[in-house]
Amino acid sequence: MNGHAVTNGEPVNGTSDHTIKNRQIKNGTALPNGWNGTFVNEKDPYALMRDCNANARLTAQHYLWRDLLGFLVHPSIPTAAVDLKVADVATGNGIWLHDLARDMPASVEFHGFDISLDQVVAKPWLPANIHMHTWDLFEQPPPEFVGYFDVVHVRLITVVVKHNDPRPVLANLTRILKPGGYLQWDEVDTIGCSVQSVPGVTAENLERLIAQLCGRDTWKSYLTQILGENGYADAVRHSYAYGLHMSRFWSDVYMATWKEFALKALKTPEESGRLERRAMEESVNGAAIMIPKLVWVARKL
Ligand SMILES: C[S@@+](CC[C@H](N)C(=O)[O-])C[C@H]1O[C@@H](n2cnc3c(N)ncnc32)[C@H](O)[C@@H]1O
Repeated sequence: MNGHAVTNGEPVNGTSDHTIKNRQIKNGTALPNGWNGTFVNEKDPYALMRDCNANARLTAQHYLWRDLLGFLVHPSIPTAAVDLKVADVATGNGIWLHDLARDMPASVEFHGFDISLDQVVAKPWLPANIHMHTWDLFEQPPPEFVGYFDVVHVRLITVVVKHNDPRPVLANLTRILKPGGYLQWDEVDTIGCSVQSVPGVTAENLERLIAQLCGRDTWKSYLTQILGENGYADAVRHSYAYGLHMSRFWSDVYMATWKEFALKALKTPEESGRLERRAMEESVNGAAIMIPKLVWVARKL
């Protein structure tokens, strides 16, 4: 699922996506082409969707993450400064930033970056201290943000990392951090994922389905070391696993992720439809995808 070539000719000020799309829709020159009659940019290199279901999935999974971790920013990262500057890269619909901003002083600055802002709230409705920008994290960061942030957060970019090598992404995340600033990188443990079922229930379709999403991202086994070799001190990997009582909530999120991936990247609708129906039957009977969560914290030297 890695290796989608990314090109981005969009300006970095974050206003282009909404403006262009709204104009197209108003003039009647664009027709719905996605799930549920929504609009999907054919040239968007992202392996998942950006429609209402994809957005709702990001929101639901954010609250599951927060429930599991018990924090948004890891407690070892200092956040007391009133002029703190926080970035969330590959922000999606910006839910992590919004949730964090609610409990912090209005003087703290929050900046979300993403290759597309199609999933964020309309710009005039953003809180005054939350700013959204278009940025392809494989490109050099906007110059005004070099060395700007005290905290840089990134979550769930497994489908974005290319060739099993996180270093190009890491180099750009590092560029926007201040010396002494903290990186927090949250991921699903796609190597440690498994399918569990109650005795007597088979789960071969869930196994097949999750194998299409998991298992090739070995960089996660080395990221702590890579951080140490690339300008960071005190790099620590934390791991979080949820219990079986939470498994159905999480498993449905992963089936929904796979469904987006199947629709956008696999493009084998009949085969995927059959697999989904059988996997769903297994879920109902008592089987679930279990994926632990990983959080790296490291301080830029
Ligand atoms: C799985 S979503 C995670 C969203 C958010 N971090 C969260 O946890 O809710 C991955 C995000 O990466 C963004 N993305 C994909 N390729 C990117 C790139 N080259 N540069 C910046 N963001 C990118 C996608 O647009 C998407 O919003």
